[in-house]
Amino acid sequence: MSTIPTISFAKVAAPKKYAHVVLCPAGEKPSALVPLADPENVLDGAAATARFTGKSKSKLDVLAPAGTNATRLVAIGLGETEKLKLTDWMALGGVTFATVASETQVAVYFDGDADAAAAFAQGYLLRSYKFDKYKTKKADDEDKSDKPHKLVIMLDEVTAARRIWTACKASAEGTILARDLVNEPANVLTPVEFAKRAASLSKLGVEIQTLTEKEMKKLKMDALLGVAQGSRNPPRMVVMKWKGGKAKDKPLAFVGKGVTFDTGGISIKPSGGMEDMKGDMGGAAAVTGLMHTLAARKAKVNAIGIIGLVENMPDGNAQRPGDIVKSMSGQTIEIINTDAEGRLVLCDALWYCKEKFKPQIMINLATLTGAVLVALGQQHAGLFSNNDELSANLTEAGLASGEKVWRLPLAKEYDKMIDSKFADMKNTGGRFAGSITAAQFLARYVGDTPWAHLDIAGTALGSPQTDINTSWSAGYGVSLLNQLVADTYEK
Ligand code: BES
Ligand code: MN
Ligand code: ZN
Repeated sequence: MSTIPTISFAKVAAPKKYAHVVLCPAGEKPSALVPLADPENVLDGAAATARFTGKSKSKLDVLAPAGTNATRLVAIGLGETEKLKLTDWMALGGVTFATVASETQVAVYFDGDADAAAAFAQGYLLRSYKFDKYKTKKADDEDKSDKPHKLVIMLDEVTAARRIWTACKASAEGTILARDLVNEPANVLTPVEFAKRAASLSKLGVEIQTLTEKEMKKLKMDALLGVAQGSRNPPRMVVMKWKGGKAKDKPLAFVGKGVTFDTGGISIKPSGGMEDMKGDMGGAAAVTGLMHTLAARKAKVNAIGIIGLVENMPDGNAQRPGDIVKSMSGQTIEIINTDAEGRLVLCDALWYCKEKFKPQIMINLATLTGAVLVALGQQHAGLFSNNDELSANLTEAGLASGEKVWRLPLAKEYDKMIDSKFADMKNTGGRFAGSITAAQFLARYVGDTPWAHLDIAGTALGSPQTDINTSWSAGYGVSLLNQLVADTYEK
């Protein structure tokens, strides 16, 4: 297993045997910033030779420099520093980790404020993540000793940086938990195993309640159970409660699709790429990661996380196209396509959430439709909402966190597309507007609750490789929702 770096902050350290990193604004000489580590001005000479100018994310890497006790002297270009946003500082942290990954002790000379330093550290930590638990052999350039990797960031505002880092670290840990869950294969991460991992949040003070198949049957969650009935692995629903606010405050609710594997069921998917469907629980992973983050940083809100955990398999007991099921709400659904299973899981989870907890807002996350990839690719999640204010807050949180969303419409003309000949609705709306008709389906289960649906099929798995993520799963959604909670509900 790869170990996660230990990160600390100090005013000055005069560390020996460290890799020294200078963050260098465009046009400045790197040496001015590392008097301790580089008495011989090795970096300036190297900068001239390599034509290093401090351009954003450029690197200068001097190995085992003579005349110093540093293992390495590194300069990372910052570009124009007044333009740097916190997401840029995160990226710079990621670029820095990538450069010094093989080191065990790293010192960064940080000439910026505490917010920037904490964001830098968050990016550093996120970039260090690797999902390699199933690799029994290490590559030649990997550290075989598993020595811990230590980073010390030297700056003026140490106290503030430490305080802000507590919150940023909690966010990174939640993202990493979500990545682990999404990357995990479906033979390991069954609904029962997922529920166990979610239950371990009790160590942070999260209250956990796990509903079994029998209990869900009693609650009449037959839409969710209809999906589960084709699998040998029994379903679960986990309710996580974080009580960090006042007793009278209505909770914020987060609901996640947790299909631990989606074969499509009887409407079976083509085999090419089907292995990706181990990630069809990305919504549930984001909700679990978020609850971890809120508890770890002791967020001053009341929050509920609900995850619907099922496996969608085709066996002799699987549901068929044409079947009609009654959801917990009492509304009936004609199953047209058993591969449109996510909405069947969510409709019971959303209804249960709304009825039981009367939340002030309800946000669900789901790897719901391939169509959202066609519309938005992997750069934005699809956002659907019945509330302009919530929608605007989510959009802003997306820009601030770097986990972006883009709003798509809901309208009664689209809603009509899921009316059924035989039941109150059908579970698919035909070839056109697939992400919208899926959202219209969910909208029938939220009443007047201010609600938002995030279709994260494009962002939660098979994620683009970035400065802060080189894993298959980016852990999308944790940072976004943590930002929303902090900026909108804790101010
Ligand atoms: N889990 C899939 C959606 C998905 C696609 C997630 C690609 C991640 C990457 C979902 O359950 C599904 O199969 N949706 C169908 C809906 C259709 C049958 C109406 C789809 O998108 O094709
Ligand atoms: Mn499906
Ligand atoms: Zn699915």
